[in-house]
Amino acid sequence: MPRNVVVTGSGSGIGAALTALLRAQGDRVIGVDLRGGDVDADLSTPQGRTAAAAAAAEAAGSVVDAVVTCAGTAVPGRGMVTVNYFGTTEFLTALRPALAAAERPRVVAIGSISGTQTADPDVVAACLAGDETTALAHADRAVAEGRAQQLYPSSKAALAQWARRTAVAEGWADAGIPVNVVAPGVVLTPMSAGLFDDPEMRKVMDAAVPMPLGGYLEPEDVARAVLFLASEANSHITGQVVYIDGGAEATLRGPGVF
Ligand code: NAI
Repeated sequence: MPRNVVVTGSGSGIGAALTALLRAQGDRVIGVDLRGGDVDADLSTPQGRTAAAAAAAEAAGSVVDAVVTCAGTAVPGRGMVTVNYFGTTEFLTALRPALAAAERPRVVAIGSISGTQTADPDVVAACLAGDETTALAHADRAVAEGRAQQLYPSSKAALAQWARRTAVAEGWADAGIPVNVVAPGVVLTPMSAGLFDDPEMRKVMDAAVPMPLGGYLEPEDVARAVLFLASEANSHITGQVVYIDGGAEATLRGPGVF
């Protein structure tokens, strides 16, 4: 049976690769992106998230079989909080009723290996408290203090924790909705392209994200793992952060973290 799958960030990189794979297997994708999607919306604003979720639910006839959130930004600044965190969590929360109406609903959010790196604990705490104003105030302070590089890890650490908490909160597991995060290493997409221009930057990146198995990922490598977690075949995996990173997380955190 073809399923209704909502994909944010469907116009580029991982989201575009996933959209192509889903359509190839006969699913109906409702793509959400800034422009050129089935639903055009700016997920950085509360109004944009609400409107996007309503339009996506309507396009799916109020029954959404899966949501995969790929929209994100690596531009240092507020967007890391507004798009990467709230643009994911509020969008998913708004679609919960349409997911609960499906027979075998699934949720997958794209996190990052960066979520294991140094974060700003105040940004993470405010995100998890659902307080976007305070999170943005702490983000502005991090930028002013020259710590803008902590915002991407902060957004992805908060997202991973939100997913683990939400997966077993009332209204999700008990409604049959698995919630998982896929956390890639370095993926060759427009987002990461700039990192490869500068050989010094590439060295820093390779040290920060060592990928002994297979090297850098193609977007399809990530999309194929998402495809399983978002499928009916995933009956019991929930609340997990699945690293698709060629061994980076195991290298960096060692055998004691699991
Ligand atoms: P990409 O830049 O190719 O695609 C991101 C998509 O998100 C674009 O289509 C963009 O228009 C959309 N988007 C950005 N801001 C938006 C907004 N305000 N409202 C609606 N849509 C918006 O990036 P890529 O690499 O495909 O990234 C997908 C996800 O994977 C992101 O969450 C990213 O943080 C994550 N990721 C990427 C890695 C990489 O090395 N490329 C590594 C680890 C995680």
